[in-house]
Amino acid sequence: MTKVFVTRNWHPNAVKLLSKHFNVKVWDQPDIPSSEQIISSSQDCYAIFTEFDDKISSEIIESIPGLKVISNRAVGYENIDLRAAKKNNIKIGNTPGVLVESCADFTMGLMLDLARNITFSNRNVIDGKWVSFDQTPYLGTDVYQKHLAIIGLGQIATSVARRAVNGFNMEVSYWSRKRKPEIESELNLRYVNDINELVQNCDYLSIHCALTEDTYRIIDKEQFDLMKDVKLINTSRGPTINQNELLNAINNGNINSAALDVTDPEPPDYKSEIVGHPKILITPHLGSGSQETFNKMAQMAAENIINVFHNKNMISEVLID
Ligand code: GLV
Repeated sequence: MTKVFVTRNWHPNAVKLLSKHFNVKVWDQPDIPSSEQIISSSQDCYAIFTEFDDKISSEIIESIPGLKVISNRAVGYENIDLRAAKKNNIKIGNTPGVLVESCADFTMGLMLDLARNITFSNRNVIDGKWVSFDQTPYLGTDVYQKHLAIIGLGQIATSVARRAVNGFNMEVSYWSRKRKPEIESELNLRYVNDINELVQNCDYLSIHCALTEDTYRIIDKEQFDLMKDVKLINTSRGPTINQNELLNAINNGNINSAALDVTDPEPPDYKSEIVGHPKILITPHLGSGSQETFNKMAQMAAENIINVFHNKNMISEVLID
C-alpha cells in the first residue's frame, strides 16, 4: 500500500482520513524529527504531511525517491525548498482560507491586551504586586474609535479590518502592494501609498503582509523613528520587523508596546531582552491555533494529498514559477 509520513502525532482525524487510502506512518517522538529522521521515516513514501517548522531541504527532497507530494499544514511554505521540489516534480500543498477568522480573532485579542495592559498587569499579580486597589500603573488606552493602520490587505487583514470597523468603530488605514478598492469601499478604509506616512498617524499598527524580499524588515529604524506611542502587533512573520530597532523604539517611546506572535528567530532565546521586556508580549505563533482551525487545517492538508493521489487538483496547491 502507498505510504505517507506525518511529521507529528497531533492529528488523529487527518490520520484516520489518510489511512483510508494509504499506509500512514506517524512520528510519535517528543522532539520534532531531524532532517535525517524525516529522510529515514519517509523512505518509500508518496507524500509527507509537514508542519511549518519542518525544514524540507533539497537534501531531504532528493533522498526520498518516490516522493510526489509535500503537504504543509500551514499557509506559509518558506520551510520548503520550492526549487528542489519543482525540479523533482513534487507538488506542494498548503492550507489558506480556513484559518482566516481565527487569526483575525487572535490579532484583535493581542490588540486589546496591549491596549489595556492585560498581560502586563497579570504578570504583576503573579509577582504579588496587587496589594490594594490601584489602577494607575496599568491605565491603558481605548481601542474603540482609535486609529488602526494595517500593512498588507490579504484575507486575514481584511477580517481584522472588518472587526475593527464594525465591532470597534475604528478608523482603519492600510498599505498594501496591491490596492483593494472593493474592500476599501465596503469598510471605508483609507489607502496610504507610503508606509512612512501610514506609520506616523496611527495608534495601533498591525502587520499582515507575507514575508518576501520586499517586506523583509518593512518596519525598520526609519519607520520606528516616525512613530509616536504606537502599539504594534505582528502576526505575520518575525523578519518583517527589525527586532533590535523595535527594542530601541520601545525604550525611546516611539513604540508604546508590542505584541509579537512571530519572532526572528523563532522561537526566540528565552533569556533575550525581547522575551523579558515588560512592554513586549510574545505568544508562540498561535494565530491560527484554535482547536477548530487546527483540525480544519489538518483535514485540508490530508485532502491535498488524497486529491493528488486520485489525480484531482489539490484544494490549495503552491504554484512554483
Ligand atoms: C502560519 O503561520 C501559517 O503559515 O499557517
